[in-house]
Amino acid sequence: MGEFVRLEVADGIGTIRLDRPKMNALNLQVQNEIEECAREATVRDDVAAVIVYGGERVFAAGADIKEMQTMSYTDMAVAVEGLHSFTTTLARIPKPSVAAITGYALGGGCELAMCCDFRIAGESAQLGQPEILLGIIPGAGGTQRLTRLVGPAKAKELIFSGRFIKADEALAIGLVDRVVPDAEVYAAARDWMAQLVKGPRFALKAAKEAVDRGGELDLDSGLALEKSLFAALFATHDRLVGMESFVANGPGKAHFEGR
Ligand code: HXC
Repeated sequence: MGEFVRLEVADGIGTIRLDRPKMNALNLQVQNEIEECAREATVRDDVAAVIVYGGERVFAAGADIKEMQTMSYTDMAVAVEGLHSFTTTLARIPKPSVAAITGYALGGGCELAMCCDFRIAGESAQLGQPEILLGIIPGAGGTQRLTRLVGPAKAKELIFSGRFIKADEALAIGLVDRVVPDAEVYAAARDWMAQLVKGPRFALKAAKEAVDRGGELDLDSGLALEKSLFAALFATHDRLVGMESFVANGPGKAHFEGR
């Protein structure tokens, strides 16, 4: 349990809760604490899905500019490893994840949200990569993950301009997946993850790996990865449960056991 970030576990869902007033600025300590929580969520058996949530007012307004202001090139050459470590650890949690976005998700905050499988935003949320206004570029994966989500031209337009976009535009370009009333963001994220908590754990893990890792490979290599992951699922108990349930009762009625 960190000072600014904690993992709250209930009903199979682990919520990585950011709590650093006023803006959940991601200083080095917050980055380390997110990484700790992501590692814990990865290994805990009682966590089957993950929500990243910044509270009712703001998701995260980015790296802590006051902390970055005095950093030299050599300071950042070291710190950037940490930026990539915490985001990669979060992105590689082998369980479904969603960012529940209220208020601002800017800079490192938007990059944090893009490490999740999905993004659900409140109607008045605003997202963006405003680093250019500080004379820098996104440094926690934004140039890569934003491009993969929205395509190169739209990513460049957002990164070159640094402009903030509202939830409806973010939905239209694929940066967020659902928009709900502000007050319902966290509950809607929980409802979404609650459906997946009941799913076959190893198949969900394999699906995430096939899409995320396979997407970085040429087609033949991606298909080879899929073949291995697919065949391996025949070693799990849940695929017996799923197929026996189908034959006996029809589709969608299996009670998976996560093994
Ligand atoms: C440090 C921040 C901050 C940040 C806001 N604050 N964002 N402090 N780092 N990223 C502080 C303000 O200084 C202020 O402190 C208080 O939070 C409230 O902010 P205001 O600006 O007064 O509020 P408001 O007018 O509502 O505007 C909110 C805002 C704006 C739109 C979020 O603060 C803003 O543009 N922030 C910077 C966003 C940004 O550029 N993010 C990218 C950072 S670079 P006081 O003490 O005066 O109350 C980055 C690089 C990626 O993320 C690296 C990976 C992690």
